[in-house]
Amino acid sequence: MADTGRLPAAGISFDGVSMTFAGVRAFEPVSIDVKAGSFVSIVGTSGCGKTTLLRIAAGLVVPSEGSIDLGGARPGMCFQDPRLLPWRNAMDNVTLPLELAGVSPDECQDRGIEMLRMVGMGDAWNRMPSQLSGGMRMRVGLARALVERPPALLLDEPCSALDEITRETINELLADLWKELGMTVLLVTHSLAEAVYLGRQVVVMTGRPGRVVSVHGIHLPSRNPEVRTTVEFAQALQSIYHDMTLPRPPGGIAPGSLAKHAGGEP
Ligand SMILES: Nc1ncnc2c1ncn2[C@@H]1O[C@H](COP(=O)(O)OP(=O)(O)OP(=O)(O)O)[C@@H](O)[C@H]1O
Ligand SMILES: [Mg+2]
Repeated sequence: MADTGRLPAAGISFDGVSMTFAGVRAFEPVSIDVKAGSFVSIVGTSGCGKTTLLRIAAGLVVPSEGSIDLGGARPGMCFQDPRLLPWRNAMDNVTLPLELAGVSPDECQDRGIEMLRMVGMGDAWNRMPSQLSGGMRMRVGLARALVERPPALLLDEPCSALDEITRETINELLADLWKELGMTVLLVTHSLAEAVYLGRQVVVMTGRPGRVVSVHGIHLPSRNPEVRTTVEFAQALQSIYHDMTLPRPPGGIAPGSLAKHAGGEP
């Protein structure tokens, strides 16, 4: 039986990370500490550098300045389009990273089916991507991102192509996976409601060039869907919206100030 217990979470530390493309500053130095096991959302106006920041965290892009430290961990990733291989069924998409890592076929099958069960796709393991809905494809993409048991998960607008109801079910799935597995999650989203509902902290960025303007600790009376109708939820949305639409402040937040918002417990 595959091991689906809690993952050893990794902290993610951005130290003065900035990016300049062809002489144009995409975003100013970012210094934030995402605590191991926390769930942090990043919101911000289009083009402020959210995706680039995640790509830097994933090791796909080298920053122009600064450094990123995941304690040597390799994160899992899932972006807006899970980019499943169309010629492989759900199971074979999920087990691909294991195959590439040389894991035995039997163990691949065990771990693949466990992950597919965790994301609610246990009965559809042999369906091809073309036979899956957008929500189902995202579930398979999440299973693939988690099958190697990464200590951190990077998500770039995973729900933005989904309808409202499907988005809510995937939000619940993300919350459940985080509680069950305990990995660190960094979620980029354009939905302030999604950011607040899932994140224990929300990092607010603005452009251009991009910069971090504030970090909000999110304290809600519960994490059930009904919490979206509470005053606390509305107040969190309002203060984040306020910061996103502020005129540019003279300076960004102090390096490491995210560390002050401890939290991180499911
Ligand atoms: N490979 C690249 N070459 C040149 N410029 C780039 C490249 N990638 C990103 N940029 C620029 O860097 C800035 C930040 O882009 P990024 O995609 O990170 O923003 P974003 O916050 O994710 O935007 P959105 O919310 O629209 O997804 C933008 O001005 C973008 O045009
Ligand atoms: Mg983006």
